[in-house]
Order: sequence, then C-alpha cells, then structure tokens
Amino acid sequence: MGLMKSLVSASLVVIFLAVLINNALKPPAVPKIEATWWGPGEPSKQDKSIRPFTINISEKEIQDLNHRLDFHRPLTPPLEGTHQQYGMNTNLLKEIIEFWRKDYKWKEREAYFNKFPQFKTNIQGLDIHYLHVKPKKIEGVKVLPLIILHGWPGSVREFLEIIPILTTPKNGIVFEVVAPHIPGYGFSQAAVRPGCGAAQIAVVMKNLMHRLGFSKFYAQGGDFGSIILQHLSVLHPESVLGFHSNMCVVNTKKSYLWTLLYSLYPQGIVKQEHVDRMYPLSEAARIRILETGYLHLQATKPDTLGVGLNDSPVALASYILEKFVTGTNKTWQEIPHNQWKKDWISYTNMLDNIMIYWWTNSMNTAFRLYAETFNIKHNGLGIMGIPIPVPTACARFENDFYVADGLVGEVHPNLVQLTDHPGGHFAALQLPQVLAEDIFSAVKIFEKVIHKN
Ligand SMILES: *[C@@H]1O[C@H](CO)[C@@H](O)[C@H](O)[C@H]1NC(C)=O
Ligand SMILES: *[C@@H]1O[C@H](CO)[C@@H](O)[C@H](O)[C@H]1NC(C)=O
Repeated sequence: MGLMKSLVSASLVVIFLAVLINNALKPPAVPKIEATWWGPGEPSKQDKSIRPFTINISEKEIQDLNHRLDFHRPLTPPLEGTHQQYGMNTNLLKEIIEFWRKDYKWKEREAYFNKFPQFKTNIQGLDIHYLHVKPKKIEGVKVLPLIILHGWPGSVREFLEIIPILTTPKNGIVFEVVAPHIPGYGFSQAAVRPGCGAAQIAVVMKNLMHRLGFSKFYAQGGDFGSIILQHLSVLHPESVLGFHSNMCVVNTKKSYLWTLLYSLYPQGIVKQEHVDRMYPLSEAARIRILETGYLHLQATKPDTLGVGLNDSPVALASYILEKFVTGTNKTWQEIPHNQWKKDWISYTNMLDNIMIYWWTNSMNTAFRLYAETFNIKHNGLGIMGIPIPVPTACARFENDFYVADGLVGEVHPNLVQLTDHPGGHFAALQLPQVLAEDIFSAVKIFEKVIHKN
C-alpha cells in the first residue's frame, strides 16, 4: 500500500513538472503592433502618392568616391600563411579596389538598375523605395503578387537577376514582384526614433503592399528579409497567402531542449547526411561565436561602428565582402581565393550592392535594425517562436543557417516544402535560377492548399 502511494505521488509530481515545463515552453500570444509614425515630425496627413524614382548619382559624388579610393590609407597585409582566418583578406580587397577604380563603371550599372521600374511612397512617415515589376499579361496564366525582401548586408540589388525569372510564367503562374528596401537601407528613409525593429518593419511592409492594392500576397525572404516576413506572417496572416524562406530558423526554448536531448541520438531529428551541420554542439557553438561578433556589435553599438563605414568606401567594402566570402562558402576562410573555383558572386555584382550602401550613406541606419530587434523588449514579444499560421516553405542552402527536419515543424506547422540546394547565404545573387524554381514550386503547392480550403 505504501509503495502504491509513493508511486502515485511520484507520478503526480512528474505530471505537475511536465505541465510546468510545457507551459514555460509554450509560445506567447500574438502581440498587436501599432502602425507607429516613424518619420520626422508629428504624424501628419499622409501623402499617399506613388512617385516614380530613378537612381541618378551626381558627378560630384562619383568624384568624391574616386578620390577616397585613390587616396585610401595603406592596407595592413595579411599575416604570413593566412587567408581569411583573421577577417577580410587585404590582398583580395586590394584586387577588388583596383577593379572598382579601373573597370567598374557606375553610370553603366546605374542604367542597369534603372531598367527596373522603381518608386517611392510614404508609409508611416517614411519614404519607402521599391522595385515593382509587372509581368506581361498572358491568357490562362495566373498573376500572383509577391513581396521579396533582402537582409543585411544586402539590398534590392540581390534581386535584379531573379526578378526577370519570377516575372516569366512557369506552370501556369507568374509573379508581380515588389522588392522594397527595408527602412534605413538604400533609398528607403530611416526611422528617426527608437523602436523600429523587425516586428514594426513587418507592419510597414504590410501597409506598403496594401497601398499598392494587394490586400493578400505571397512573401519571400532570406536573412533579415526572412525574419521580417516571418513576423508579418504571424502578425497579419490575413494578408499573407504563403511564406517562402531561404533562411528558416527555429530558435525556441523547446528547440534548444530538443537539440540538447537529441545530441545523444542526432538521427532522431536530423538527416544522417546533415548531422555535422548541428552536432557536436561544441563545434556548432564555436562557429556561432566565431561568426557572430558583428551581430553583437551591431545590436549594441551600431552608431560607433557606423561612422567609419559611412566615411570610407574601403572600410565599407571590407566589412561587407567578408560576409559575402564566408556566407558563400565557409571553407574559403582557409584557402587562397584563386582556388575558390568560380562559385563566387562577380566583383561587379558585389560592388553594385556595396554602392547602394555607399551612395545612400546607410550602413549606420542599417546596423540599427540589429539593435532594434535583438533587445529585451523586442525579443520578449517572442514572435519568432509563434507557429506561423499560413502555408510555408523552406529552402536550405548548403552554406547557410540550418534548421533540422525534426525541429522545423515547431514554427512551421503548415510547411509544404523543405528542399536542399548547394550554394550559400546570398542565394538570389549566387543561384537565381535555383531559388526562383524553388519559389515557383512552393507557390504552386500553396495555391493548391489555399484553394482546397
Ligand atoms: C541625372 O541628372 C543629370 C543632372 O541633373 C541629368 O543631366 C541626367 O539626365 C540625369 N540622368 C537620369 C538617368 O535621370
Ligand atoms: C566550397 O568551396 C570548396 C573549394 O572551392 C568546394 O570544393 C566546395 O564544393 C564548396 N562548397 C559549396 C557549398 O559551394
């Protein structure tokens, strides 16, 4: 009898603990995010006009840049026998600066940009810049609105090759593409007061799409673009038809617990051939520390770092290019760049992206997105841990962040497609065809799911 009694009370304690742990790990309720006025001054009568925009950098600005490139201070040579283990390799940087000064012709690049229809419109006090590309109308082809969003250190430049593919019909569907710059990036105005993080920008993006007449639309993003659109899908599922990401991340308390427990049996949550992308945990932690110093700095002291990068094109290029090297292929840190084969993004395309930051003086305001998102108040909303109510798809590129098959369902309960591809973090620039096909295929399934209900 005594044994029975202790068994019952032990079971009760276990059940009680399980309920307690389960409650502690439960995602929070969906918060309400106001449509804050982020522009200067008081909220005024909103200018709802849509104004065509072309990039036109003045001769004076170009001369100023050339002067800075010609007279930059001497670069510190890399240590003997090292490649990129200490950060951007200055021998490679030197080669790119020479290319920039001698072979790269801004006015030709500007003309390439301006082939894409661009506009500005004011949302919540901020002038938002975006490309808006409509497909040709073709009988029997369904036109679907799609917002594609870049991250850091990217820009709408990442999408110039993928847009023509997305606006060409495939399997009976085609996209009408809207590619905005995040507030504070490129030609989009930056918030003038604190608090404009991923959740708040998600609201700006929703209002932008509504302004353009799309009450419902598809959403696609990588890097911070993915984080913002995930917020948007959770905060406003009534507006999002489906969400495609090339950087799915699951960072919830439950996922940490599972990751830890399954370290004893990785095959329980991750494909055999992907085990080394998650385990051993000590190696995953080492890489995380090694590659995220920038994030800590940008999330805490963005304005300190911003001054130098807005003032020196060489420093700006160094900081951005290092991310493009490691983000495209981690092994490149260890080997000389002439052995990278031809997988890297062309100097011209990368300089285009650097130029967007340079001409608009926007690296400092771009940094602030980290400070406004990775802080106690914003993290406390817990939006990234809330299951996404709309259909989703995840494209995993080999050299990008990884989410295990066994964990992805926690925030993606309506996942319709999970794919693996070679390539890296900047997939739209590196492999536009591969990414575009993945999006077409996912949206084809989204459409079936939506119209079945
Ligand atoms: C850019 O501005 C210059 C000077 O105002 C003007 O002559 C030129 O036509 C403009 N180019 C474009 C593409 O708008
Ligand atoms: C990374 O680069 C190495 C060396 O160039 C190459 O062998 C490997 O296939 C690359 N991996 C990816 C994912 O591109």
